Amino acid sequence: MKLFIDSANVEHIKEMNDLGILSGVTTNPTLMAKEGKDVNQTLVQIADMVDGPISGEVISTDADGMVEEGKKIAKLHPNMIVKIPMTEAGIKATKALTELGIKTNVTLVFSLSQALLACTAGATFISPFVGRLDDIGTDGIALIEDIRDMIDTFGFDSEIISASIRHAEHIQASIKAGAHIATVPYAVLKKAFKHPLTDNGLDAFLNDYKKVYGA
Ligand code: E4P
Repeated sequence: MKLFIDSANVEHIKEMNDLGILSGVTTNPTLMAKEGKDVNQTLVQIADMVDGPISGEVISTDADGMVEEGKKIAKLHPNMIVKIPMTEAGIKATKALTELGIKTNVTLVFSLSQALLACTAGATFISPFVGRLDDIGTDGIALIEDIRDMIDTFGFDSEIISASIRHAEHIQASIKAGAHIATVPYAVLKKAFKHPLTDNGLDAFLNDYKKVYGA
């Protein structure tokens, strides 16, 4: 499973990219608004930095508007992916952009039937929101498993981006459930590096060494 970062913060993206762990980036309008910078400039900055698919989301709600916006997003950089909400208009726009050879990421997916519609429209990526499903008392990871089964059974080309990741356990569960990618917020990526036994083990190794060989 590949790791994307779910962020529009250029410093955070750079820090994680410099560690060599990133295969792509997802943004959304909320993440963009949090940074408050020029949206297109930010997307180009990110795409120049990270070598992989970079999702920029449309804000139109009608299919024609989404297609026009999508064409502009795609022109920003060869790695741009047009992120489109899972609505009737979004599915129509996904189909149209796919026919133009533009890659898409259908977002805000919360059910297997929505995933089927997105795959049928030719979505390059589909983004089921694990954490938000967990929030309402349903099993977000079970949806990832079901979508992966559907993709394998029917031979769809879409890849699953496990999204709305809240903690490292979600990353591990996404791997087991068969997600192709997990898009992970900066704070969760930072925590995923850590384990108390790693810290304790390293302290012990260094102390033992110092006792015999000095500092
Ligand atoms: C997906 O690409 C979205 O940006 C995302 O993961 C949103 O998750 P949230 O529930 O943390 O807002």
